Amino acid sequence: MTSAIKAQALTTEILPASSDRSALRRQLRARRRAIAGRTRELAAHRLARLIDRTRWLRPGRSIGIYLAMPEELDTAPLLQLARRRGCTIALPRIVSKRHSRMRFFEFDGRISRGAFGIPAPGGKRGLCARELDIVFMPLVGFDTGGNRIGMGKGFYDRCFAHRIGLRHWRRPLLVGIAYDVQQVASLPAAKHDVPVDAIVTESTVHRIPRSNP
Ligand SMILES: Nc1ncnc2c1ncn2[C@@H]1O[C@H](COP(=O)(O)OP(=O)(O)OP(=O)(O)O)[C@@H](O)[C@H]1O
Ligand SMILES: [Mg+2]
Repeated sequence: MTSAIKAQALTTEILPASSDRSALRRQLRARRRAIAGRTRELAAHRLARLIDRTRWLRPGRSIGIYLAMPEELDTAPLLQLARRRGCTIALPRIVSKRHSRMRFFEFDGRISRGAFGIPAPGGKRGLCARELDIVFMPLVGFDTGGNRIGMGKGFYDRCFAHRIGLRHWRRPLLVGIAYDVQQVASLPAAKHDVPVDAIVTESTVHRIPRSNP
């Protein structure tokens, strides 16, 4: 086997369970960074097409979506699609670095550089979490039980903490976005971790049976 094929074989394997969150994050982020540019572009378009086949993007719905950092799966085609489908778009902005708090703001077409150098919306209208119908969220690792780990600051967990333990919830539907290679056999969930209702990768829409979105 050539080394290129070996590397490919390694990165398509589902990572085994691990309780060491920071080691797991490092491993998963390395996998994500190793994805080539053309593969990234294809994945971003495939993701948008897969989501278009669900009934999530309906006119008048409020959609929370992140602007991807270079190593994350690009959400630009999905954002454009949601706008074409008549959805209202809201983007997250860090409102307190000290308390790791973020809030969604209606996207008015303006983008500025926010905390940690993350592009953030310029819009003035802030939405509370329950006003959003669907939130597409980034993640570093996921399992098919809907558990996720993010970048390790707890921004998303804090923002949607109201969802923990709710059996009958209304909004928002939480949808994780990831590359297939970010799948882990099983992830440990802490009490504060908010599970997602679905995960979409470049190949698959994983609906989590518990919440039946
Ligand atoms: N609702 C909460 N209230 C207080 N602290 C929280 C809450 N949610 C998470 N935290 C704290 O935030 C820190 C990071 O949490 P965690 O490792 O789960 O982040 P993450 O899930 O990777 O990040 P993110 O939610 O931004 O994707 C932990 O120390 C955790 O205790
Ligand atoms: Mg968490």
